[in-house]
Amino acid sequence: MPDDFRDPNQWWVGQVLYQVYPRSYMDSDGDGVGDLRGVIERLEHLEWLGVRAVWLSPITVSPNADFGYDVGDYYDIDPSLGTLADLDALVAAADQRGMGVIMDLVPNHTSIEHPWFEASRSSRDNPKRDWYVWADPAADGGPPNNWVSLFGGSAWTLDEPTGQYYLHNFLDMQPDLNWWNEAVRDQFDRILRYWFDAGVSGFRIDVAHMVIKDRELRDNPLATDTDSFMEQFRGQRQEFNSNRPEVHEIHRRWREVAESYDPPKVLIGETFVERLEDLFPFFGDGGDELHLDFNIPFAHAPFDAATLADMIGRTEVAMPALGTPVWTGSNHDISRFPTRWAGGDPARARCALMMLLTLRGTTVLYQGDEIGMVDTDVPREELLDPVGIRFHPHAGRDAVRTPMQWENTPGGGFTAAEATPWLRFGDLDCNVTDQRDDPDSFLTLTRDLIALRHSTPDLATGAWSALAGPEGVLAYRRGDTTRVYLNLGATEARVEDGAGTIAVGTNRARDDETVFGSLTLAPAEGVVLTTG
Ligand code: GLC
Repeated sequence: MPDDFRDPNQWWVGQVLYQVYPRSYMDSDGDGVGDLRGVIERLEHLEWLGVRAVWLSPITVSPNADFGYDVGDYYDIDPSLGTLADLDALVAAADQRGMGVIMDLVPNHTSIEHPWFEASRSSRDNPKRDWYVWADPAADGGPPNNWVSLFGGSAWTLDEPTGQYYLHNFLDMQPDLNWWNEAVRDQFDRILRYWFDAGVSGFRIDVAHMVIKDRELRDNPLATDTDSFMEQFRGQRQEFNSNRPEVHEIHRRWREVAESYDPPKVLIGETFVERLEDLFPFFGDGGDELHLDFNIPFAHAPFDAATLADMIGRTEVAMPALGTPVWTGSNHDISRFPTRWAGGDPARARCALMMLLTLRGTTVLYQGDEIGMVDTDVPREELLDPVGIRFHPHAGRDAVRTPMQWENTPGGGFTAAEATPWLRFGDLDCNVTDQRDDPDSFLTLTRDLIALRHSTPDLATGAWSALAGPEGVLAYRRGDTTRVYLNLGATEARVEDGAGTIAVGTNRARDDETVFGSLTLAPAEGVVLTTG
């Protein structure tokens, strides 16, 4: 594999990373909950796929009010998932297969049960009081300002014994840390180093854009009808509790810690902004902030050629010179792309996969993307996600967190046959084992596209530019040798191209077909064409 075109100091560029939701990946001890030993058992699958690193959603100690995103101890592993020794074993085993392990850092808030918060709420003059965001009631005794939690209701809860409100931008069980406090900043530098020293290759940083809030706690402006759906849903624009100018100095600080290692550790921001333009500042001036920042507006875009060409084009134009775009279609919070983008149509899902794996930058797949897993209906009485429970019948996140579908057997290859999985299975007819040796399967397409990315330097790192194509066709060039055509329209499309060979088509019968002058694509058909 011609891997020498890669820069070892930016080992993630052009690569595919893979998100594991540990509770749902592989259960090694038959208790129905996935664990770290389980991830070790499945490393062969990940190496076979060709992913460069595995990002694990939080594995640190958590009371699980928000399944790991409410941290009770940043320095230890949650007992339901394993031990520090298991993590060491995972890091070593992944390394042997040429893969890194990326953890998930939650710096915006802790669990309400974290000893820091217990100290903080114990009295107004506790040394840890200022580690969290506390404020006096408003004149009428109500919350200090109008901020609403992203999970619904006021973002403030009154702590009666001390007479002040604490801030929580998520659940009231997730109090926000105070990033104006230098001791908090120092503590997180320590946490980063602790895991980096343990051999972890980087961090995905939860709600990285939100960690610091307006120092004066000013009211957010009310939403208007030109604001996004979520802003209108919440009734306000998050001007003062999110995306504050001071967040950049915090990201620069983390970047320095990451870059003090050789090779550098990677930082991936969950930069959940509403507008695409708000994403680019997170890459920093001259590449001094987070290395990679999730492009959520792209993931939320409708799946049509014109919109996607516009989003990708604007991203490429605005991306700072040293920045690497990140492409993702699914994660543990949003509807899976075979459902959201493709409406359950496998042919459209194959086009979406081809797009994700042929754009410039770093692609992050979510577990199950490789087999085309769709969202699973979880009945109301089985819901576990606090967001799903609160906003029912609006879709919550359990639908995308059901166990990985390894095989169509009792236990699904995920857990013991007689065990009850913590969340129900989706459709086990869609599974890894049945797809692995099928040349036409979604899994084989995923693997072949990743392999093509590894063997085609232009696809890994070549420049992206838009190509003109007929209506409904998303068309772009990568470097000098590679073109991608995706017919997302409902009718057949005729594409004019010079000459080339179909390296991989979503219709595998067309692999290796030679193209002269023009090419006809069926609805929901895509090709990667190479010359030379
Ligand atoms: C991020 C996580 C999500 C979590 C929230 C609060 O958005 O991805 O799962 O609930 O932050 O930590």
